[in-house]
Amino acid sequence: MASSSLSLICFFFIFGSFYISNAVVPPSDTFRYVNQGDFGIYDSEYDPNYRALPPFTTPFQLCFYNTTPNAYTLGLRMGTRRTRSVMRWVWEANRGNPVGENATFSLGSDGNLALAHADGQIAWQTNTANKSVVGFAILSNGNMVLRDSKGRFVWQSFDSPSDTLLFGQSLRIGGPAKLVSRASTTDNSNGMYSMVLEPKRLGLYYKSMLYWSSSFTEVNKPNVKLVNATFEVQETEYEENYFNALRFHLSNSDDQPNLNFDITRYSSTLSYLRLGSDGNLRVYSYRANVTGNAWSLLFTLFDRRVSERAEIVEDKCQLPDNCGKFGLCEDSQCVGCPSPNGVFAWSKACNVKMADCNPSSFRYYQLKGVDHFTVKYSPGTGPVKQRDCESKCTKDCKCMGYFYRTDQSRCWIAYELKTLTRVGNSTHLAYIKTPVR
Ligand SMILES: *[C@@H]1O[C@H](CO)[C@@H](O)[C@H](O)[C@H]1NC(C)=O
Ligand SMILES: *[C@@H]1O[C@H](CO)[C@@H](O)[C@H](O)[C@H]1NC(C)=O
Ligand SMILES: *[C@@H]1O[C@H](CO)[C@@H](O)[C@H](O)[C@H]1NC(C)=O
Ligand SMILES: *[C@@H]1O[C@H](CO)[C@@H](O)[C@H](O)[C@H]1NC(C)=O
Ligand SMILES: *[C@@H]1O[C@H](CO)[C@@H](O)[C@H](O)[C@H]1NC(C)=O
Repeated sequence: MASSSLSLICFFFIFGSFYISNAVVPPSDTFRYVNQGDFGIYDSEYDPNYRALPPFTTPFQLCFYNTTPNAYTLGLRMGTRRTRSVMRWVWEANRGNPVGENATFSLGSDGNLALAHADGQIAWQTNTANKSVVGFAILSNGNMVLRDSKGRFVWQSFDSPSDTLLFGQSLRIGGPAKLVSRASTTDNSNGMYSMVLEPKRLGLYYKSMLYWSSSFTEVNKPNVKLVNATFEVQETEYEENYFNALRFHLSNSDDQPNLNFDITRYSSTLSYLRLGSDGNLRVYSYRANVTGNAWSLLFTLFDRRVSERAEIVEDKCQLPDNCGKFGLCEDSQCVGCPSPNGVFAWSKACNVKMADCNPSSFRYYQLKGVDHFTVKYSPGTGPVKQRDCESKCTKDCKCMGYFYRTDQSRCWIAYELKTLTRVGNSTHLAYIKTPVR
């Protein structure tokens, strides 16, 4: 008797725990959408064709969109047709891995959210099968979540940013620590630029070359490190002076440094931070209740106009690609195309003549008062003699030139030249490789 009731309890215990750990999504909350049918007719960013899917929480909606035929991205769109403004893409599932017609986006009863090609092959998934998911939702801040029965997030789209941070979204060390630009408006594969949260700074990179970084005096202590950065509002004493900002948390310190972008306007909670395909960083804000011009560009990091309020605006010359493959830049303008025979007028065609590997086949020509885009934010090496700096570049086939500061005896090797900034200081020298013949 005692043993049979025990086995009965064991049975319920085992069955019960099995049931709980494999909680299922109720049939009414599962879905399976097929990428087929008519395209939507409203304007959206990148000028794609799109098919809107039912999951929708104003002003966010999931869609399939394509900029080239039969290559679809599953993206989250921000904007409503009521505002008659272009809708923007603020999250994407399958960066650089498009799906075709009849692809499916589904939430199975096991709790896995998956994007699959028409033949069933998975293109992207949340890997949340049998992890107690009971439902999917788009929250009002644009975070998409899979929740368990206690309301906890088993998965959230805020943990997989691509090039955009929505309001309240974070980067963190040991988690999603970077944004990566898209290659171009028509190509959503990874571009050349990234914004990376590192223990001691927030850096902007072109490939592996640093072209901007934050500086916080708060992290100048050995045991203090950045932990996370959240795009939110920095409040001040006066409401009209709230800022859209990245706010940082530190380890071993209660300081909370921030990067203030610009004064908030309209609904600050419908703002986003974007690393553009041009490497620029911008903040946009959305007004939900207007009939036109819902979007405002609030902040541009590399800008022609230097805003009074923004504390961190940089000249556009600091953008690696501002003058294309090669060019001299001054006050945000491309003002010259350097050559061994002097500086000529700049055009998009301005380029360097590639030197051969053999040291006897090339020489260097000098430019005075010029910096490479890496010089401002990286220390280079040194002190070294200019001769040694040059010899390092000469021995390195991939080196296209070197930059040398005579006042500090510091050396920078450049593997790509791109935009050179005129600094009007003759202690800053550039030496560009050029074929002898
Ligand atoms: C998509 O599926 C439908 C049937 O559901 C089929 O008629 C159509 O040809 C398919 N389209 C493509 C491009 O495979
Ligand atoms: C989830 O659980 C079901 C039922 O036990 C099992 O068939 C399936 O393989 C599991 N899936 C994963 C990904 O663990
Ligand atoms: C950021 O880090 C702080 C300190 O460790 C922590 O309290 C906070 O929850 C973190 N925020 C996010 C969004 O990760
Ligand atoms: C905007 O519209 C929504 C829904 O119609 C409404 O709830 C909200 O109060 C409006 N906001 C403003 C600032 O008018
Ligand atoms: C050139 O740079 C050095 C070192 O930064 C500085 O001391 C000097 O004043 C600068 N000269 C000019 C003309 O700007």
